Amino acid sequence: MVPQIAHVRRRRHDAPDAWTLELEMAGGARFHYAPGQFNMLTAFGVGEAAISVSGDPADGPLIHTIRAVGPVSKALTQLGPGDPIGVRGPFGVGWPMAQAEGRDVVVVAGGLGVAPLRPALYSLLGARDRFGKVTLLFGARRPEEIVFRREVEHWRGRLDMDVEVTVDHATGDWHGNVGVVTNLLSRLDIDPAKTLAMVCGPEVMMRFVSMALVDKGVGEEAIYLSMERNMKCAIGQCGHCQLGPTFICRDGPVFTYARLKPLLAIKEL
Ligand SMILES: Cc1cc2nc3c(=O)[nH]c(=O)nc-3n(C[C@H](O)[C@H](O)[C@H](O)COP(=O)(O)OP(=O)(O)OC[C@H]3O[C@@H](n4cnc5c(N)ncnc54)[C@H](O)[C@@H]3O)c2cc1C
Ligand code: FES
Repeated sequence: MVPQIAHVRRRRHDAPDAWTLELEMAGGARFHYAPGQFNMLTAFGVGEAAISVSGDPADGPLIHTIRAVGPVSKALTQLGPGDPIGVRGPFGVGWPMAQAEGRDVVVVAGGLGVAPLRPALYSLLGARDRFGKVTLLFGARRPEEIVFRREVEHWRGRLDMDVEVTVDHATGDWHGNVGVVTNLLSRLDIDPAKTLAMVCGPEVMMRFVSMALVDKGVGEEAIYLSMERNMKCAIGQCGHCQLGPTFICRDGPVFTYARLKPLLAIKEL
């Protein structure tokens, strides 16, 4: 329960209300985690919030991408180089990287949902020969809300993965796809028996993406979603993150659609 101390090394503005922080652990220790896991980050004097790790698990500093929505996230996004930050974690069950080996992987991200998927993308691309086709479908509300834009453009230039991006509302000089991310799915040619999907975004988006994948023949056990709920302890003790019979912090945040489907159907659970 005691946070380790880290310091902000770099801060980057990624979207109108989202910033990416590169952190250095005290003493320069490397921070080990699995793709899809999260940390409880402390803004000293304000509080703690659950934030997914958004960096490369194999290399580089500890990275988090944070949307300023309330007191803690606002304080975290205002930290600058040299400022201390508390890190408690890593917590949770992440993306099923081992189960994905040998299969085609479809990664579907909505908005800042790409943050917890980024470590999975690094892992897929870092061991590219272990996986079949890799596809990223990325939806954002507006072009300026495409986080990691330069990286997404770089991935789009690779010959060993397919990347499609869409925005709900085209602004400025956007000449790409317009519409919800499920539109991209309807055009996707997949082998459902070989496909494993990793999905993160707003709950309504994850529900529609899962239904579209099931319509294409992908099994409910092969669709993985990352869930968010209010968290306090992050170790399965306080019940704040409870979703029906499961604790998001301890049993998730990544679950199969098969497991979540009955819970997602209950209004305001
Ligand atoms: C496993 C997990 C991983 C997460 N990963 C990330 C991450 O990588 N980056 C990130 O920015 N956030 C992430 N979150 C969400 C983050 O923990 C919450 O936004 C947190 O509540 C922020 O704390 P706060 O004190 O700033 O705001 P709070 O006081 O908790 O919330 C302030 C207001 O914002 C609303 N709100 C809270 N969360 C959200 C949200 N996600 N979207 C829109 N409105 C919201 C609340 O309803 C409330 O009205 C994650 C949450 C979980 C459970
Ligand atoms: S946050 Fe306390 S039980 Fe999950």
